[in-house]
Amino acid sequence: MDDYDRRHFIRTSLPGFLGLTMALPSLTALATRANACQGRLSEMQTINWDAFLEAVEKEATRQHLDDWDESAYVTKAAELCSRLNLKDEYLLEAFKKAHRGLGNKRVDFEPLEKQRDFHVTLLQFEEEEEISHHDHPEMTGVILCASGEIETWNYDLLGEKPDHKHVLLKETNHEILKKTSVSSLTSKARNIHRLKAKKLTQLVDIFAPPYNRDRIQKSSWYEVDPDPFTTKKEAKVHLAKKR
Ligand SMILES: [Fe+2]
Repeated sequence: MDDYDRRHFIRTSLPGFLGLTMALPSLTALATRANACQGRLSEMQTINWDAFLEAVEKEATRQHLDDWDESAYVTKAAELCSRLNLKDEYLLEAFKKAHRGLGNKRVDFEPLEKQRDFHVTLLQFEEEEEISHHDHPEMTGVILCASGEIETWNYDLLGEKPDHKHVLLKETNHEILKKTSVSSLTSKARNIHRLKAKKLTQLVDIFAPPYNRDRIQKSSWYEVDPDPFTTKKEAKVHLAKKR
């Protein structure tokens, strides 16, 4: 982007000035993005969609380094989610667009961004709609609740029986996400989850690395015994079967 300094403004003719006035909103957005990129925004300042993507990209790119730390990444990405302006014009448009799926009796998926190292998807659930137990092989996920209320359960894979069909799952998280709540999973922790909406809910999901053919093929769905075989004082461990 060209720099617009005082000299440029003084030399700007009237038509140029009018053009600049019309361009100001986008210039401001670009400036915010650039500032976020250079770390000049305060840690808690709200960021727009462009700045958010720029910052997520910077963090997700680290997955190619030998010292990639998934836990540190999801913590950073969750912080960025907490700062994302949910009233950003692009997001408002996407939230509205997803409403065309209302009444179709299934969870709706709207792609928001797809890059080499991550993708962001908008998920829309109506009341009682759910995504049953599934995993995200070799992936991290960060979920921002943009509206509504949804119950989530996360599990760690404890072990697999020799038949590769039956597994033991330990429940490691159970919570209700409300607007601005953020949840996360890594390839090792909380990787298997289930989500069930208590009311109309929209989620912004970031996956790094993104789904590709290989990761889709490796993905599993599970039938989970609802009764854990552990005692009440212990963490819940469930027997499950890959579908
Ligand atoms: Fe998932």
